[in-house]
Amino acid sequence: MTLIETSFILEVFLASEIFIFEGWDVTQFLAQNANGQKGTAMHYNEKTIFLKNGTECTLRNPRESEAVQFTAHLRRVAGETHFLARYEEEVVTPSERQAQIIREALECDDRMLLAVWINDRPIGSIGVNRVSPHIKMRHRAQFGISIERAYWNIGLGTILIKEALEAAREMGCEQVELGVYSDNERARALYRKLGFEEWGVVRNAYRLKGGAYCDEIMMGRSL
Ligand SMILES: CC(C)(COP(=O)(O)OP(=O)(O)OC[C@H]1O[C@@H](n2cnc3c(N)ncnc32)[C@H](O)[C@@H]1OP(=O)(O)O)[C@@H](O)C(=O)NCCC(=O)NCCS
Repeated sequence: MTLIETSFILEVFLASEIFIFEGWDVTQFLAQNANGQKGTAMHYNEKTIFLKNGTECTLRNPRESEAVQFTAHLRRVAGETHFLARYEEEVVTPSERQAQIIREALECDDRMLLAVWINDRPIGSIGVNRVSPHIKMRHRAQFGISIERAYWNIGLGTILIKEALEAAREMGCEQVELGVYSDNERARALYRKLGFEEWGVVRNAYRLKGGAYCDEIMMGRSL
């Protein structure tokens, strides 16, 4: 997905902000997917994992009742780095809207939203969705990832992206795409490690507050 908020997600992450799912609504998806067929929801079976530094955390879908905490997590990361689509003060999703995003991710088989919890507090998240419901683009998925700085470099990004790739396979997609700031060396190295290649560049995709421009590197890999 381009960091630009494309049809679906991207309300949440991006430059991988997670996407979430602005654009179509579930009803629309069901109508297009269909011929009336309703897909299976993308529920994630809760998992306990241990990070490289021994930290124990839980991977599970956020719940509607956790909408405020989830938005707060996205806001924290947006305040720690310029590598997401929004500045901190732009992460102002109303709780009802965030709850709707979470609910739709649970109900719809074209997207998955997964968060990492430590003591019931979200510290990382990843969203994956189909790029478009249209027949010509249904084989393409995109994702956005967001981890709080205190948990960088201990393997969480690797774990979350592998889960997203699996979810995209479950959706029947054939490739996964993303956009990343050209100066996000950590993310680019991680994506390369996980088999992504650079497919293109959007020049001056981001203009930061100080006036500097950043290119967006488009990356992708087959599933
Ligand atoms: C980018 C991000 C998802 C990476 O997650 P993470 O949990 O730190 O990733 P991991 O620990 O699994 O892996 C990071 C890898 O990058 C490497 N790395 C770290 N800093 C690096 C740098 N400056 N240059 C190159 N590689 C670097 C690490 O050594 C590690 O590689 P290894 O697994 O071979 O040791 C996370 O830092 C993040 O959410 N950042 C803020 C938001 C963001 O940038 N999102 C991505 C938008 S496209």
